[in-house]
Amino acid sequence: CGIVGYVGSQSALDVVLAGLKRLEYRGYDSAGIAVLADGGLATAKRAGKLVNLDKELSERPLPIAATGIGHTRWATHGGPTDANAHPHLDNAGRVAVVHNGIIENFAPLRDELAERGYELASETDTEVVAHLLAEEFSACADLAEAMRLVCRRLEGAFTLVAVHADAPDVVVGARRNSPLVVGVGEGESFLASDVAAFIAHTRDAIELGQDQVVELRRDGVSVTGFDGTPADVRSYHVDWDASAAEKGGYDYFMLKEIAEQPKAVADTLLGRVDGSGTLSLDEVRIPASVLREVDKVVIVACGTAFHAGLIAKYAIEHWTRVPCEVELASEFRYRDPILDQQTLVVAISQSGETMDTLMALRHAREQGAKVLAICNTNGSTIPRESDAVLYTHAGPEVAVASTKAFLTQLVACYLVALYLGQVRGTKYGDEIRDVIRDLSQIAGAVERVLETMEPVRELARSLAHKNTVLFLGRHVGHPVALEGALKLKELAYMHAEGFAAGELKHGPIALIEEDLPVVVVVPSPRGRSVLHDKIVSNIQEIRARGARTIVIAEEGDEAVVPYADHLVRIPVTPTLLQPLVATVPLQVFACELATARGNEVDQPRNLAKSVTVE
Ligand code: G6P
Repeated sequence: CGIVGYVGSQSALDVVLAGLKRLEYRGYDSAGIAVLADGGLATAKRAGKLVNLDKELSERPLPIAATGIGHTRWATHGGPTDANAHPHLDNAGRVAVVHNGIIENFAPLRDELAERGYELASETDTEVVAHLLAEEFSACADLAEAMRLVCRRLEGAFTLVAVHADAPDVVVGARRNSPLVVGVGEGESFLASDVAAFIAHTRDAIELGQDQVVELRRDGVSVTGFDGTPADVRSYHVDWDASAAEKGGYDYFMLKEIAEQPKAVADTLLGRVDGSGTLSLDEVRIPASVLREVDKVVIVACGTAFHAGLIAKYAIEHWTRVPCEVELASEFRYRDPILDQQTLVVAISQSGETMDTLMALRHAREQGAKVLAICNTNGSTIPRESDAVLYTHAGPEVAVASTKAFLTQLVACYLVALYLGQVRGTKYGDEIRDVIRDLSQIAGAVERVLETMEPVRELARSLAHKNTVLFLGRHVGHPVALEGALKLKELAYMHAEGFAAGELKHGPIALIEEDLPVVVVVPSPRGRSVLHDKIVSNIQEIRARGARTIVIAEEGDEAVVPYADHLVRIPVTPTLLQPLVATVPLQVFACELATARGNEVDQPRNLAKSVTVE
């Protein structure tokens, strides 16, 4: 979910609504807003996207106000209805609360409130907070103190933001696990799940820590722990501006973000390689002596970031000879994984807020493992809680389906693999320099892929009526196939599956039927040519059974030509780096298919960009 709070001298309604627009990627099942005006509280909320709320507000405008809060929801407890939309109010209609996360002990709290005669208007876990806050406020007349008292009774992960009609120029926020950042302006203050919500007004931000409550006033903010002790906070300046989070002439954020990939890749390499081809990753604060002792690398991540991890495994094991496991973060801690001080855990996350990944890294640290985060969001929770972080410099990614963040995650993974190799002395001098030289040419290669995408778009449009598309790959092409299939599921809502091409004959080949589109990612014929030859056989096998083959192959690879119904050329790259170019046509393919099917590209149904619940 996305949360915004504002107190200042502008129209709170305008500031909060504009902020919610920027946060809609976090959930769009419903949206709502509450403002303090004329000694009372005025609210509006609607199921569905923000446009529904906009419409409601144009029909029934809220009074002018300078204090307000808003919410855009990704439903957990209770369906996406008007009643379940946030904000939630107490029975007297004096307190409004918005919430991100899950309050795990909401059932006993609900029962307790019902017994005391409260009427609960929604099915949400959030509403209990409104009633409890109202009670505590009536006793102490201090909203921040009331919030602290309530938070001490709550279990689970939550971010809460609240206003009270009897505290007209105050917004309070509380944070446990789910993200919340403060924006400090001139005579105005902001609260939001992500700086994007207030970046148009201020670039000065404060990170809230775990179990902290913030009181927002026009002239400043004060932060305490849940126990009331003043908290140390970190202020920072956001290094991108509002234009970076705008569409800039593209129809969709996703198109813009696909186009930004060459720059994102180049930016992520910038400053990390010196003139002699040596990596200098000063930000990896884990001492070289510790890295030399590492006897296992475990990568944890979700969704697209997990696919980056699968590719990283090939690079890490090849360049360092250290065993590497990759695991879905949501599964990790539940199987009691074997971890100790010699394990390096790499947590990959664009947002830095994915709860599954956060919980996995906490578990790893409890077991004594060192955690290195690969993350795109400065100041987010995952890097804060890790031993070290390597930031990807993709800039803000707004479209729910990840593109440029994925490519930069790959770059960061290669850097980690090479760095480990460098520190441990398993790869020296020329070889590392060769790979780094190849990496530094990748941005140009991605650019060339982007210039030749028109036939891919045309092909996508011609397949808009299909129900199923399969993806095959070998070696690092396998995770690329998985990512291609994920993009298609997310965006086109089609049945799409990725397989290891060699596994085809053990089952999935039964799915092949006349004219079924199958995308095949072909490894380079140079280097490991055995791989290449095997996949060419796989293409023949499926084609013989009627598949329509869509072949992604290197420039100059003539062996695939006779078996390709559609051929997509990608630049020549070393095998391990090929995912950086091979993924791009699959992103374009999925985006165009989604458009052709009339789907919402930036905000696919049921999804959210950062999922802050487990
Ligand atoms: C969500 C998004 C995916 C993303 C995954 C991990 O499910 O819809 O696109 O890959 O979370 O997100 P993260 O921010 O941790 O990389």
